[in-house]
Amino acid sequence: MHHRLFAILLLAASGGTLAGGAADTLLQTYRDQGAGPFQAETGRTLWTKSFTAKDEPRGCTDCHGTDLTRAGRHRKTGKPIQPMSPAVNPKRLSDPKKIEKWFLRNCKWTLGRECTPQEKGDYLTYLRNPDN
Ligand code: HEC
Repeated sequence: MHHRLFAILLLAASGGTLAGGAADTLLQTYRDQGAGPFQAETGRTLWTKSFTAKDEPRGCTDCHGTDLTRAGRHRKTGKPIQPMSPAVNPKRLSDPKKIEKWFLRNCKWTLGRECTPQEKGDYLTYLRNPDN
């Protein structure tokens, strides 16, 4: 009951903000799992960090690039990937299921394991508003 009311208040407060609802919903889910607080700065560090998986260096920027407002390029297929910033690409971070699906897949590929709720919250906080 409490959480639902809080979520509605958050949604109302973020009215007009791009990607507000879906990101807020997920961040609350991660908090319910014991994570938080989340920081854009930590998310940025994780986003640009080089991990090792399958004995090779891997990072989020291998496919998404370092500038969130510009298109990336898939490291294996070479296919363009639309910008991650919801400010220039309103479709981004608008669907919790899509975000979770790709967190699962991309964390496994990049880190060699699933991301923790803390890591996902920091990534999301950075991606939705890098200047926070
Ligand atoms: C091997 C290439 C690759 C790497 C590395 C990669 N991604 Fe992705 N990512 C993709 C593709 C492909 C999609 C889906 C296509 C699209 O949405 O444009 C995607 C989509 C996403 C989405 C969905 C966003 C939305 O709402 O549309 C998120 C979130 C995401 N990636 C986060 C990450 C994070 C965090 C990392 C590093 C841990 C990462 N990605 C590393 C290829 C990659």
